[in-house]
Amino acid sequence: MKLSEHLAGIDSGIRDIIMTVAEQAKVIQGGFMMHYGTSNTKNVYGETQIEMDKWADRVLIENFKKTGIVKNISSEERDHVIEFPDVKGGFGITLDPLDGSSCIKTNLAVGTIVGIFSDGNVLGEGKNMDAACLVIYGPLTTLIYACKGCGAHEFVLNSESVFILRNENMKIPDGKIYSPGGLPSDWTDAHRKYVKELENQGYKLRYSGSLAADFNQILHYGGVFMYPGLKSKPEGKLRLLFEANPMTFIANEAGGAGSDGTKSIHDVKPVKVSQRTPFYIGSKEPVKLAERMVGNKK
Ligand code: AHG
Repeated sequence: MKLSEHLAGIDSGIRDIIMTVAEQAKVIQGGFMMHYGTSNTKNVYGETQIEMDKWADRVLIENFKKTGIVKNISSEERDHVIEFPDVKGGFGITLDPLDGSSCIKTNLAVGTIVGIFSDGNVLGEGKNMDAACLVIYGPLTTLIYACKGCGAHEFVLNSESVFILRNENMKIPDGKIYSPGGLPSDWTDAHRKYVKELENQGYKLRYSGSLAADFNQILHYGGVFMYPGLKSKPEGKLRLLFEANPMTFIANEAGGAGSDGTKSIHDVKPVKVSQRTPFYIGSKEPVKLAERMVGNKK
């Protein structure tokens, strides 16, 4: 079944946005050869931007604008929310155009992460999000979409450039992979004990440096991805709006969970666009264990 057919029953606005992501994913997938160098600019976090980050950001934003139903977009690559004041009502979009872009150099998988708010409030809590998308550019180009109460579904780009259903109603299995971000010497004692406990339970380490790819692996095999609050940086590294919230949306729809170590990521109130958060995501059990061991939750 084609992606366009699978989307037939859902809200037409969300459908148009997901189809825009799918069409532009093909463009981005074809652009790596041309745009893989580093640029001479930094993003709002002070990180040197890869040419692909900036190019993919432009491609997606231009095409979201063309839909005429997007009111604003908050992108990880920009320090301000882009507004389209002519659009009345309209959707809000959060965008990480190319997550894990430092992995382009070594030809590891990277991804595009999109969050969709029907109420147009990109600074809303994650629980107000209505749909999310994750595109993975790897040996295959895949697209996962999830919408509220309708599950998470995976599609693969075929040789005729059409996204075809690969996995319907994804369910994160109870697998035993752990993907731990952050320097171990900078982990808190509680987080270190948590990782030790996972190892004692037989968890196997797999980590690439691309959240999109690492989370995608957890989604298929089960386990937990984590980028904790560090001793030197209690807020952690990953971004609430662009990474943690949409990933948690997909995890929730696939029967998993996402947490800041004390509560669901979706209960964290964003106070600014560039907000970071400690992040634990994956199968329910290891995420709950993190909340008990790191967040002292009963
Ligand atoms: P970026 O898109 O700037 O490459 O961000 C990568 C993020 C995320 O994808 C990944 O999980 C994490 O940063 C990797 O950080 P470390 O290099 O500290 O492992």
